[in-house]
Amino acid sequence: MEKIAPALLAWFDQNRRSLPFRDDPTPYHVWVSEIMLQQTRVAAALPYYERFIRELPDIPALAACPPERLDKLWEGLGYYRRVHSMQKAAQAVCERYGGALPADYDALLALPGIGPYTAGAIASIGFGLAVPAVDGNVLRVFARLYNDGAPIDEPATKKRCTARVMAHQPPDAPGDYNQALMELGALVCLPGGAPLCGQCPLAALCEGRKAGAAASLPRKAEPKPRRILPVTVALVQNGATGAWLLQKRPESGLLAGLWQPPAFEGQALAGPDAVRAALAGLGLDPGFGQPEALPAAKHIFTHVEWRMTGWRLTAPDQPAPAGCVWAGREDLAGRYALPGAFKAYRDCLSG
Ligand code: ADE
Repeated sequence: MEKIAPALLAWFDQNRRSLPFRDDPTPYHVWVSEIMLQQTRVAAALPYYERFIRELPDIPALAACPPERLDKLWEGLGYYRRVHSMQKAAQAVCERYGGALPADYDALLALPGIGPYTAGAIASIGFGLAVPAVDGNVLRVFARLYNDGAPIDEPATKKRCTARVMAHQPPDAPGDYNQALMELGALVCLPGGAPLCGQCPLAALCEGRKAGAAASLPRKAEPKPRRILPVTVALVQNGATGAWLLQKRPESGLLAGLWQPPAFEGQALAGPDAVRAALAGLGLDPGFGQPEALPAAKHIFTHVEWRMTGWRLTAPDQPAPAGCVWAGREDLAGRYALPGAFKAYRDCLSG
C-alpha cells in the first residue's frame, strides 16, 4: 500500500490534462474552477472559466462586479446561487483578509459557499497545505482500492475514506496527490460499473479488483422506505358565502407556509363524528351538516407517503379560526396555490 502515492503521482505526471486552473493554480483560480466544476463537466466549464478570469482577474474584481454582469458571466452554467455565494465570500475576503484568500483550511471553510471539499481543494492545490479534498471521484477510487463495500453516502464511510486518503498523502505534494486522485476518478476509475482497470496505475494494488468487485463498488445505501402517514382532509364550505376553509401550514417542514384545506396528519379519522370533533378542536363552530366521505387519495413525497381520506361538509357562516381563512373562488384560483398533494380534492373545491 505504500506504493500507492508514487504510482499515482507518476501516472499523473504522464497523464494530467493541461487545464488553465491547473497550469496556473493560484488559490483564486482553484476556487473559481472548483465552484464551476461542482455541477459542470470540465470541457463545458472551460470557456466559462477563461472568460470569467479574463473579466474578473482577482478577488476584488469579483467582489465589485455588478450583479447583472456576474449573472451574465454565469449564464449557461446554472445554479446561480453558487456564484452569488462566491461573490459574498469575495466581499468577506476583501473585508477580512485584504482581498486575498487565507491560507487556512478552517478560515476557508467559514466562507459562504465553501464546503469541506472546496476548502480542501483550495488549501491543498492553491496553498500546498496537507489537507484532504474528497469528492465523489476520490470516494469511488478509495472504495475500490480498499474493497470497501460500506454505503458511500454515510458519514462514517466518508470519514474512513478521508483517513485513508491522508495516510497516503505525501507531505511535499498534497495538491498534486489530491488532483491525481480526482483525475484518476475522472479518466480511469470511472463510475457506473465501468472502471478502465487496464489503464490504471493502481490496478496491481487494488483490493476491489483482486476480489472481482471493482465494477460493483462503491455501494450506495438502500433508500429508506417511505414513512406511510394517514392524513384526514376536511373540505369545509361556508354555507352562506360558498367560500372554502384553508389553513396555513407551519413555516418549516413539508410544504412550509403553504395553504391547504384543514388536514389532520397522522390521523385516519374514523367517521363523521371524529371529523367534526377534530374541526371543533381547530376552533370552528361545530354546527355543521353531515360530513360526506370523498374518495381516498395518496401523494408520494421524497420521505413520506400520505394516505388521505377526504370529507366534505358545510359549516355555518363564522369568522375563520386562527391560522385559517375563508377562500372564495377567485382567492383559490389566484391567491392560494394549493399544493399538488391535494390534487385529488381540487375539483371539489372549484365545484
Ligand atoms: N474536478 C474538480 N476539480 C478537479 C480537478 N482539480 N482536477 C480534475 N477534476 C476535477
